[in-house]
Amino acid sequence: ASVLVLNGPNLNMLGVREPHIYGSMTLDDLEAACQERAEQLSLVVDFRQSNHEGELVSWIQQARTEHDGIVINAGAYSHTSVAIMDALILSELPIVEVHLSNIYKREAIRHHSHISAVAKGMICGFGPHGYLLALDAMANILERD
Ligand code: DQA
Repeated sequence: ASVLVLNGPNLNMLGVREPHIYGSMTLDDLEAACQERAEQLSLVVDFRQSNHEGELVSWIQQARTEHDGIVINAGAYSHTSVAIMDALILSELPIVEVHLSNIYKREAIRHHSHISAVAKGMICGFGPHGYLLALDAMANILERD
């Protein structure tokens, strides 16, 4: 099975960006960890990042026919983007939401996510390890389908 792992705005700056919150791992390191876990789970992972809402929407639309599930950290768009939520709905794919930080421990503007309403479940607060947990969850969802 093929899983699209989508990363939203500012996640290209991992390792540099607020390391006290997001840690020292870069996005390339995170992709490598995801690819290793995907191999163990017999999943193919297509790992992408964009700072552009419309590009994320287009990729989600394409996933409808090209992938079997989506793991998404939409970054700040999680809290604002009805367009990304709508694209996830129309994909008709299982969605697992992930955040590096515990969004409920942080500012109130981060407490609500539009993605959660359309996701099977959400993992937050475990740093990069959360992505591996999200892939485990996705493998389990796809096995059950
Ligand atoms: C984030 C949390 C968001 O509130 C923030 O805007 C991000 C990263 C996380 O992974 O913890 O960009 O999605």
